[in-house]
Amino acid sequence: MTSKITAAITAVGGYVPEDRLTNSDLEKMVDTNDEWIRLRTGIEERRIQKGEGLATSDMIVPAVRQLCEKRGIDPSEIECMIVGTVTGDYPFPATANVVCDKLGAKNAWGFDLSAACSGFLYALTTGAALIESGRYKKVVVVGADKMSSIIDYQDRNTCIIFGDGAGAVLLEPSQSGCGVLDSVLKSDGSGRKYLRTDAGGSLLPTSHETVDAKQHYVHQEGAAVYKYAVKGMAEAVEELMERNHLKAEDIAWLVPHQANIRIIESTAQRAGISMDKVMLNIAKYGNTTAGTLPLCLWDWESKLKKGDHLVLAAFGGGFTWGATLIKWGH
Ligand code: UT7
Repeated sequence: MTSKITAAITAVGGYVPEDRLTNSDLEKMVDTNDEWIRLRTGIEERRIQKGEGLATSDMIVPAVRQLCEKRGIDPSEIECMIVGTVTGDYPFPATANVVCDKLGAKNAWGFDLSAACSGFLYALTTGAALIESGRYKKVVVVGADKMSSIIDYQDRNTCIIFGDGAGAVLLEPSQSGCGVLDSVLKSDGSGRKYLRTDAGGSLLPTSHETVDAKQHYVHQEGAAVYKYAVKGMAEAVEELMERNHLKAEDIAWLVPHQANIRIIESTAQRAGISMDKVMLNIAKYGNTTAGTLPLCLWDWESKLKKGDHLVLAAFGGGFTWGATLIKWGH
């Protein structure tokens, strides 16, 4: 009897731009200060992609190239590319198509997936299902955002939070019981009013007026989102742990979306997981939207051991949220 096919993560790649935007840089741009930002968010600096003609795909390409090198495969071996992003290179075509072209992944099909900060979790669950079906053997799942392209650097409610970055994982079939084991995914579109970009879609197409009214920038009602995020992430983690019969001591790492250190601490506390088992890179990258979770895996990869249980959790625009259980396989 053959055992069930699961989707194991067999390589991780990441990329963050070199340019740093520090809290003291922001002090010169808006009415804020380093102490407020550190205490209220945990962020010290973010990476910003600067330069003409550069887009989200230009962060994804080096991340995917890196994972191919680590795994010793050629991009032409990739069968499917799923890109979680809300800052694609174009409204269409999909950034996945651009990435495959730039990489020479000429045998892959792919698509973008829009779930804001939960983009990587949604994409990971979708990619894992393709592997579990038995039809695909190499699926690349990306979380990437160039948030600096949609942020108003005169709005202190948002510009202190976001940064740019890309992370990617390779999924391959495993029969050893390792890989993506379960996901609790949720969405509630009634939350769209709290975190959104108003213009540039079919509801409010781009015009001189929408540009003048700054309707292409991210609008966030931070305190409201905060309240839903604390509840949503904690409940998704609880549900995931409960239905997989896992206790806090069974979890090697909590991998939370990096939006606010206080949201992360409260999620960890509710799950009974101590902060030394929580992956944190918010101080150096800020909130890279779909990029946060794979960038954590990228930063921590060398510390992960075969058989470790990881719980990934995210909350973001939509609202979208959820948690995913992974048993590390390499
Ligand atoms: O990633 C997608 C999901 N997003 C999130 O999970 C983000 C959730 N929200 C948050 O992380 C927090 O709400 C923020 C970090 C965005 C804001 O923190 P907060 O503790 O909720 O602040 P607030 O908006 O309630 O404002 C508190 C005070 C206000 O002053 P008063 O009215 O109390 O005098 C603000 O005007 O802090 C003031 N304030 C600032 N002060 C200095 C707001 N932004 C700033 C700032 N610098 N950048």
